[in-house]
Amino acid sequence: MNYIGSKLSLLEFLDESINKVVDKNCDTFCDLFAGTGVVGSHFKKKGYKIIANDIQYYSYVLNRHYIGNHKELPFLKLINKIPELKSIEVKNRKDFVCDYLSNSKGVKGFIYKNYCFGGTKNKKEQRQYFSDENGMKCDAIRQKIEDWKNKKLISDNEYYFLIASLVESIDKYANTAAVYGAFLKELKKTAQKKLVLKPAELIINEQDHNIFNEDINKVLKKVKGDILYLDPPYNQRQYATNYHLLETIAKYDNPNIYGKTGLRDYQDQKSLYCSRSQVKKAFQDLMLKAKAKYIFLSYNNEGLMTLEDIKKIMSSRGKYGYFTKEYSRFKADKSKNRNYKANKTTEYLHYVICN
Ligand SMILES: C[S@@+](CC[C@H](N)C(=O)[O-])C[C@H]1O[C@@H](n2cnc3c(N)ncnc32)[C@H](O)[C@@H]1O
Repeated sequence: MNYIGSKLSLLEFLDESINKVVDKNCDTFCDLFAGTGVVGSHFKKKGYKIIANDIQYYSYVLNRHYIGNHKELPFLKLINKIPELKSIEVKNRKDFVCDYLSNSKGVKGFIYKNYCFGGTKNKKEQRQYFSDENGMKCDAIRQKIEDWKNKKLISDNEYYFLIASLVESIDKYANTAAVYGAFLKELKKTAQKKLVLKPAELIINEQDHNIFNEDINKVLKKVKGDILYLDPPYNQRQYATNYHLLETIAKYDNPNIYGKTGLRDYQDQKSLYCSRSQVKKAFQDLMLKAKAKYIFLSYNNEGLMTLEDIKKIMSSRGKYGYFTKEYSRFKADKSKNRNYKANKTTEYLHYVICN
């Protein structure tokens, strides 16, 4: 997913840098601002036990699947509903179920009624986050997944796999420049294509992993690991507003929504790491509570905390150092010439070897 702050293109840098610091006896990796889960997934593939967390529910869903699911998903009970599944090899059933859902007939549900042109054209606020067809298809798929869960036709693991696949897939058809803070007036090309539910990758291994959906400063009490990786927001842009529609599709809880963009209430998900006046205090508290041998922090040179702030706070726990890499900034819309301060930023990986 094209996600603000995603570390997909920095995985090699993170891996090499972390390897230079940690000892060989580490086996737990904590990714507590997990976002899309790419960092945890990378270290899961290397054999670590992963503890993942994020305050956003759509992120919990992604991590619950990419990290939490580590065995094949047999969809045994769903055979009662879709008998053809029985003759399909277990490892191919994920694809079959996604194809089955992709062929659902669209319904006029919450997404269509509130975020598509057809559903909002006679309302006070007209919105066009998805084509009418894709909005209805998304509603149909989401409702079917919930119905299967309520009827106990799918396990929790299968449920999170399907919702993660929907969150990842629908994002590719959104009629936005990149995030859900605004939608485009005209349907862009990718938004006109027909929604296809693509199965999210399943990473199989022998470890059990833990996934949480909490504020980091609260979850830390429950978490202990060898390596603690922190990748907080760098600036004032709240993820809760930028990705509000993914949150609603993941929860599908018919929230009260307001304004031009149809925002849901996000008071409980407002991040202190996006607040200039509160970030240092929150980070200090986090560093005091963290139980780990090594703590790493991704941040860039334009973030709310300065290099000096970070150095001072992290040094209080032990021997401090950092690695750097030049990095191309996140682009909201590559086709528009927006006024960025610079095209490159410096990405830091700060670390402390705890006393
Ligand atoms: C820079 S992104 C992480 C990106 C992630 N490493 C990736 O590669 O996809 C920051 C994440 O922190 C989460 N977040 C912000 N404040 C949080 C908090 N107080 N507790 C837990 N998660 C938080 C956001 O929801 C967002 O997903």
